[in-house]
This record gives sequence, structure tokens and C-alpha cells, in this order.
Amino acid sequence: MATQKTGGLAGVSAGETGISTVGKEGKGLTYRGYDIHDLAKHASFEEIAYLMLYEKLPNQKELNDYKKLLHGQRELPAALRLVLEQIPAKAHPMDVLRTGCSFLGNIEPEASAHDVNSARVVTNRLLATFPGMLTYWYHFSRDGKRINTQSDEEDIASHFLYLLHGKKADKLHHDTMNVSLILYTEHEFNASTFAARVTTGTLSDIYSAMTAGIGTLRGPLHGGANEAAMAVIEKYSTPDAAEKGLHDMFAQKQLVMGFGHRVYSISDPRSDVIKQWAKKVCDAAGDKVMYPVAERIEKIMWDEKHLFPNLDFYSALSYHFSGVPTDMFTPIFVFARTAGWAAHIIEQRNHNKLIRPSADYTGPEPRAFVAIEKR
Ligand code: COA
Repeated sequence: MATQKTGGLAGVSAGETGISTVGKEGKGLTYRGYDIHDLAKHASFEEIAYLMLYEKLPNQKELNDYKKLLHGQRELPAALRLVLEQIPAKAHPMDVLRTGCSFLGNIEPEASAHDVNSARVVTNRLLATFPGMLTYWYHFSRDGKRINTQSDEEDIASHFLYLLHGKKADKLHHDTMNVSLILYTEHEFNASTFAARVTTGTLSDIYSAMTAGIGTLRGPLHGGANEAAMAVIEKYSTPDAAEKGLHDMFAQKQLVMGFGHRVYSISDPRSDVIKQWAKKVCDAAGDKVMYPVAERIEKIMWDEKHLFPNLDFYSALSYHFSGVPTDMFTPIFVFARTAGWAAHIIEQRNHNKLIRPSADYTGPEPRAFVAIEKR
């Protein structure tokens, strides 16, 4: 049986990284040495994607050029549009992105699975096309409408909201989306990043690594928690009802999604940042129910379980009141984490060693084979 210590590899260092610090004494959450609070306050998501891919913050010209490059890559190839048109409306949007990413790897394969630059080329293409893949499928599968995925919006946050709603995003929704993309970009050896690194470690290509990342992020213990958190919040119409509901959940030993974290024990430094933005978005929408419900859930979780909200909990509210359908919450995580996965894929390539741990055997002792007619 796996020991307490190694269950889920908790507390086990599985390698080195120069990309981010998570829960390290005296450092907090940093991306390449920059404090996440400074980045969330002052930067655009494109600056962070650049930081992930090129290992430095861009100057103004570099940023303008980078945005222009991403802008020029938004068009979806006809063959990909055709594939997206086959996916039913009831499919999960994460499956749409997984398929879209994988299919693009067939028609625009990576030039070399050993090269840093080819990883950057593919990543930029994916960053530019993911919002289009998702919304193209969304509008086509519901209304048979073939949208133009080449909007004039200048960044990924506004581009996505524009394609989803067919109109320019409100500034508050745009700014909130931008901050949320920054917060979701990178988080050290989380499950999906680790999956992408394991795939890369075999010298596989970047599409395979990204697809592994998407598949791993999908689950509710990881990225899927933002969708599951929304389901909890919207179940209750008053804070008192939420309090009672939570006690029922505790009695049934159910997990409350959007709470707890493998690495953090007191709080998730990203949560306070997104909570402030969620409050603004809720207030602007005139919400008098969901935010108070969410705050009561937060209080009960802390008072009774000593568990704190992670980034997913208040992200859910900010997306909801920005008019994003719940099952698109985790795909937004993909838009952002693609840059973080890419940084890890490149780092893995630069210092590659096949990732292949061993396991403690818990099966039967060696025994004699029994011929089939004697079993
Ligand atoms: N709701 C209720 N109880 C929770 C909980 C939650 N969200 N998160 C942890 N716990 C409880 C566990 O049931 C366990 O209780 P026990 O010791 O009585 O069995 C204890 O806290 C320790 O949790 P454990 O599952 O061992 O921690 P972990 O490090 O393996 O799990 C998570 C970390 C994130 C998977 C876990 O906190 C969780 O499932 N959270 C909900 C999903 C989520 O929000 N994921 C996004 C993470 S960013």
C-alpha cells in the first residue's frame, strides 16, 4: 500500500524548476522571481505569457510585436473548423479544446520535438486559437452559426469575451478576465503541468504534452474545481441555506469544491486577489445573493474545517457575472495555463531526463502458473 508520505506524491520534490515558487517560505507565489501581486496589479496576460516563453518581461515594443503576432494567428484552418463542427453541443468544452489541440497537431505538426523555438511557435498558435476553437464550436453546435474567429480585439481576454458574446466586453469584465488569466498562468508542479512534463520527458511533441495537460486539468480535483464551485454556490438562495447545506455536505463527507490545496495550508495567495475582482463584478451586476452565499461558505469552511478558498472559488463568481457559461470556466484556465505548460515543456527539454519513478509492490507473492483447464 502507498505510504502516507508518498500518497499522491504529497511533499515529494519531483525535480527542479526556475519558473515559479509556490508556498516557499519567504518567497510566496512568484513567476520567474516576480511577485504575483505585482503582476496581477500591473501587467497584461500577454506580458506574462511572454515572461513564460521568453524568460523576461517584454519592453513596450516587444509587447506590441508579441500582441501583433498573436493577433495574426487567430484564424482557424478550414480542416479544424470542420472537425469542430462534428462535435455535439452536449460535449464538454474541455473535450473540445483537447480535440482541437490534438487535431491542430496533425495539420500543423511541431517542426522539431527537441527545439525550444518550435515549442514557442506552437504555443503562440495555441494561445491565439484556443478562444476561437471554443467559441466557434459553441456557436456552431448551438445555432449553426460559423463565426469569424479573427476579431479586432487586442488581447486574449477581450478577444474571448467578444467571440463569446458577439460584442465588445465591458471594461470591468475584461480587466477581471485579464487578472484571472494571470493568476491561472503558472503554479509549479501541479498535476497538469507534471503530466505535460512527463509527456515531454519521453521526447514527445508539444501537442501531445499540451493534450495531456488539458486532459489532466479537466478533473474537479484540479482545474475542474472552478465549475464545481459554481454548482455549490448557485445551489443556495441565502447564506443561511448555504450554511445548512454545508453541514449536510460535511455529514455526508462530501468535498466542497474550490477549497483546500495540496501545497498551501493557511491560504491561497491568489484567492484574495480574485475575490476583490469578483466582488466588483458581483456589485456591478447588482448581485445580492451569490456573493453573500460565497462569503458564508468561506466562513463556515474556515471555522469548521480550517479550509480556505483556492483560486477556483471566487474565479467562478467572476466568470459567472461576466456572462461566461459555467462549463467554459475550466477552458479559460487552459487559455492561461498553456503559457505555463509551455515554460515547463521548454525547461524539461533543456534538462531532459525521462520521468519514470518506481513503485512499492503490494501485489501477491510469486506463485505457480495454473493452466487454463485447471483454474
Ligand atoms: N472539502 C472538504 N474537505 C476537504 C476538502 C474540501 N474541499 N479538501 C480537503 N478536505 C479534507 C479531506 O477530506 C481530508 O480529510 P480527512 O483527513 O478527514 O480525510 C483532509 O481535508 C485532507 O485532504 P486531502 O484530500 O488529503 O488533501 P490533498 O492534498 O490530497 O487534496 C485537494 C488537495 C485540492 C485535492 C483537496 O483539498 C480537494 O479535493 N479540494 C477540492 C477540489 C479543489 O478545489 N481543487 C482545486 C485545487 S487548486
